Amino acid sequence: VRKIILYSAVSIDAMIAPPDGSVDWLSNPRFSLPGEDFGYAAFLRTIDTTVMGYTTYRQVLTFGEFPYPDKQNLVLTRSTRRRVAPFVRFISRNAVGDIRQLQKERGKGIWLVGGGQVNALLMNAGLVDRMVLTTIPVILGGGIPLFLDDVQPRKFVLRKRSVFRNGFVQATWDRRPGGKK
Ligand SMILES: NC(=O)c1ccc[n+]([C@@H]2O[C@H](COP(=O)([O-])OP(=O)(O)OC[C@H]3O[C@@H](n4cnc5c(N)ncnc54)[C@H](OP(=O)(O)O)[C@@H]3O)[C@@H](O)[C@H]2O)c1
Repeated sequence: VRKIILYSAVSIDAMIAPPDGSVDWLSNPRFSLPGEDFGYAAFLRTIDTTVMGYTTYRQVLTFGEFPYPDKQNLVLTRSTRRRVAPFVRFISRNAVGDIRQLQKERGKGIWLVGGGQVNALLMNAGLVDRMVLTTIPVILGGGIPLFLDDVQPRKFVLRKRSVFRNGFVQATWDRRPGGKK
């Protein structure tokens, strides 16, 4: 079974975006470390599929060219009108079931990109095997939380932790086997 990995940047107050949903809080020049990508390229090599909510997808489109053209990209939407777009497949009614099915197929890891709604949905479905959370040394003081819905208690085990000179702290957490509560 393929691993589903929630890989995300979070603020100290566990937000993934400020209230306006923008991403520039992550690219503040004070965080740049020349030659350091915080493990991103290596992570991308371990996955062949992304999963994201429609709001995050819309945000990704503003970056210019679609960033993951060589991956299979699933976008969750409840709308049945979003049918065709380059590089992505929209999944609607039975999104959790579709992802469960996909997990059984052969392949590499599945990146749960976000955002808060879809993170909560998949966490509550018990589908998140690993979280790689990079804490950015800011408090956003509101915005979109890592889980934009109540999530059930669950236990995780710390696998790895890296501290970067710019104050980023990256932690890898694996779901504890048998791991509810
Ligand atoms: N810090 C980071 O690393 C990071 C990573 C990812 C995202 N983000 C941020 O997160 C924000 C977006 O998060 P969000 O929570 O507002 O939205 P989201 O989770 O990205 O997307 C929400 C949308 O997903 C669809 N959806 C939700 N539940 C569904 C279900 N059960 N079945 C089918 N479709 C479903 C709906 O789309 P329809 O409205 O089309 O029905 C819903 O409006 C953005 O600001 C983005 O920048 C940050």
